[in-house]
Amino acid sequence: MPLSTDVSPLNVVCVGSGIAFLYAVLVGLWRWCTYEARTAETYLRLAALAAAPLLPLCMFVFTSHKSLEGCKWHLLLAALLLGWDAYVLHRIWRNFVVGPRFQSVDLHGKVAIVTGANTGIGRETSRFLAEMGAKVILACRSKDRAEEAIRAILWESGSKIKPSQLEFWPLDVSSLQSVGDFAAAFQEKAGHKGLDILINNAGVMLNERRLTSEGLEATLATNHFGHFLLTLLLFPELEKVSDGRVVNVSSSLHKVPRAFNFDDPLYESSAYSLFGAYGQSKLANVLFTFELQRRLEVLQSNEANKVGRKGERGGGDLAVRRVVTANAVHPGNVQTEVARNMPWYLYWGQRICSPILWCFSKNPAQGAYTSVHVATSPALRGIGGKFFVNCDVTGDVSAVARDPSVAGRLWAMSEEACGLTAATGDATVGSSSVNSGPRKKRKTNAPAGTMSNGDEARHTTPKTSLRNVRTGANGSKGTSPGVRRSARLRVGGRAERKIGSK
Ligand SMILES: NC(=O)c1ccc[n+]([C@@H]2O[C@H](COP(=O)([O-])OP(=O)(O)OC[C@H]3O[C@@H](n4cnc5c(N)ncnc54)[C@H](OP(=O)(O)O)[C@@H]3O)[C@@H](O)[C@H]2O)c1
Repeated sequence: MPLSTDVSPLNVVCVGSGIAFLYAVLVGLWRWCTYEARTAETYLRLAALAAAPLLPLCMFVFTSHKSLEGCKWHLLLAALLLGWDAYVLHRIWRNFVVGPRFQSVDLHGKVAIVTGANTGIGRETSRFLAEMGAKVILACRSKDRAEEAIRAILWESGSKIKPSQLEFWPLDVSSLQSVGDFAAAFQEKAGHKGLDILINNAGVMLNERRLTSEGLEATLATNHFGHFLLTLLLFPELEKVSDGRVVNVSSSLHKVPRAFNFDDPLYESSAYSLFGAYGQSKLANVLFTFELQRRLEVLQSNEANKVGRKGERGGGDLAVRRVVTANAVHPGNVQTEVARNMPWYLYWGQRICSPILWCFSKNPAQGAYTSVHVATSPALRGIGGKFFVNCDVTGDVSAVARDPSVAGRLWAMSEEACGLTAATGDATVGSSSVNSGPRKKRKTNAPAGTMSNGDEARHTTPKTSLRNVRTGANGSKGTSPGVRRSARLRVGGRAERKIGSK
């Protein structure tokens, strides 16, 4: 039977419009499946773009098509419609897959730390920051991989980056000891200069339940506890600069868990699942960000009032005073090595479908846009406690992630896991609050400048089983000597916090 090869302009336009429509539908479905920006506004905008190629197609079919058949206007109109389809396709890809790029700013003189910077989003984030002039510390667990990344970045960026702008510093973020050593080394070396940008980027997706040598569940230890401790230990350095920024790289998958699993954080009795544990750790990133920002606001407004009372210039003026902010980001669906620890069928499924997935995902450089935007945009000075997707604030955060009582409980649990204790008996910040049971709301004696949310009554006793944290899977006791050595975290005013005090 002879095959029909009718490639009339009408057929070509139909195929073009069909592809644009189908792409819009698939992008919508993909976003839904990956929990990305599930807002009515997103889907309305997507629906409008999906309809855009259909309207002129209908006009072409029902009005001019028959009368123009065979003449050159017919071809011209078909070409215009194809161009329109291509434009719509590009708009969908640009707006709903890649998102906008950050604006370049001058970062000369600034210091940034990026964890997990030897590959993927972290590597590209480091490259962009260095290209804008910052000195970037690549905090990685493998010297070889980090040095290879530095060589590659220098080669790709040509003369835009000086070799002295990129430094490898060893950090295994899943080890509290390593985090303590890193922070202590930074404080010693950086001295008075301070830290402008901290990007808590390193992350893992683990197929099986694992415990770290300190007895923490490895996904939560890497993705949350290590970064929690790192941020608190480096807080005095962030305070030294005029605009210190903490960026926590979370994920839209923070919406997977309906609640935070305080009862069994080590998965001793509950079943471990890759997406469950990962979602939990990414939920912890958002909760930590919001709670940190709440505490920073109390701290900073107390300090501004104090300075204002003394009549010093710029007491409450945001443009003049020093400020530290914390935000969380979802980088998008990015083709990186993050899937390396997935079960083989998911890993190979992803590899095989990779050419198709490229239509719905970002490359690592595009995945770094939002982290870089949040870390550098002058418009975001003083703005914290937000969740960013595609360089824009989104309210598409799960209800549990927005719950301050859950955030407070996680904070207490994280302090306990990291061995943070109060040096001055300040009940609102130290681990002394962790085991003190539910309390009625009371006036705290927290001094001005304490990193307290001032409403401790919301926090209830965590029912966590952190047994392995205390004893350590390897039998080591409590928090590591490195953390103990790093000693004190000054959080403003008279309040001081000891790390793992003996
Ligand atoms: N890719 C996505 O679609 C996506 C989506 C949402 C959120 N995210 C988040 O984005 C962040 C970056 O992920 P990615 O996609 O760029 O993944 P990636 O390519 O696998 O990079 C992860 C980085 O984290 C480092 N890392 C892992 N465990 C570490 C540890 N214990 N100590 C120090 N560094 C450690 C890795 O170092 P090694 O090479 O030594 O292992 C690597 O440099 C993660 O937090 C991830 O959860 C990614």
